[in-house]
Amino acid sequence: MPPKKLAAGNWKMNGLKADLAEVAALAEAHATTACEILICPPATLLAPMAATVGSAPILLGGQNCHAAESGAHTGDISAAMLKDAGAGYVILGHSERRADHGETDAEVRIKTGAAWTAGLTAIVCIGETLSQREAGETLDIVGGQLDGSLPDGSTAENMVVAYEPVWAIGTGKVPTTVQIAEVHDFLRAQLVSRFGDAANGIRLLYGGSVKPSNAAEIFAVSNVDGALVGGASLKAADFGGIIDALAAA
Ligand code: PGA
Repeated sequence: MPPKKLAAGNWKMNGLKADLAEVAALAEAHATTACEILICPPATLLAPMAATVGSAPILLGGQNCHAAESGAHTGDISAAMLKDAGAGYVILGHSERRADHGETDAEVRIKTGAAWTAGLTAIVCIGETLSQREAGETLDIVGGQLDGSLPDGSTAENMVVAYEPVWAIGTGKVPTTVQIAEVHDFLRAQLVSRFGDAANGIRLLYGGSVKPSNAAEIFAVSNVDGALVGGASLKAADFGGIIDALAAA
């Protein structure tokens, strides 16, 4: 059985204890669901959020991890620590980390291995900038990032790929469904050619300005197995609308 579709929320550097009320509301509204629900809060909220979620079917994840298991890396967090705090997933190589911290494909690949060792599923993010898209380089860029960021041994259980055009993140701009389909179909073909037929089960998320109002249209696109949602994941009402659209897709 392929994994269920995935509605993943990326809270980025947002969220204080008071915001756990949003998760409590989400948990109450989604006691059962046809898709997987994941929230990746700042690391400070992982443990309290795990307590808030209780037995509701809401999974938790980190937003980054260090490649090492422990040691002298002031300010960093290891995959084992995320797991210990209640995470089952970790976002790696988000374009904001690639831009703000200069993370490379090679580093993302190594971190992914560290995530697996700790028992986490990796959500590896890739995506082109506006100038790369305008230069007609989109498939070259995302193909290269996919190749470089995913370790050998990627499976439907340990890997999720998120296609997030950099120009669509937080901007309200969304690619057309034709543009999303072109990239997702290409990524699927690349995954299957590298990892074999089982890679049909690796979930491909679209991310970038997903809202309740555009979710159904995006989820109808071929090879879109869910979404990675930033801004609209912070409020239970908005994220709930996206989850409902995915469950109905
Ligand atoms: P956004 O962010 O939904 O706010 O555009 C998506 C992301 O960066 O994961």
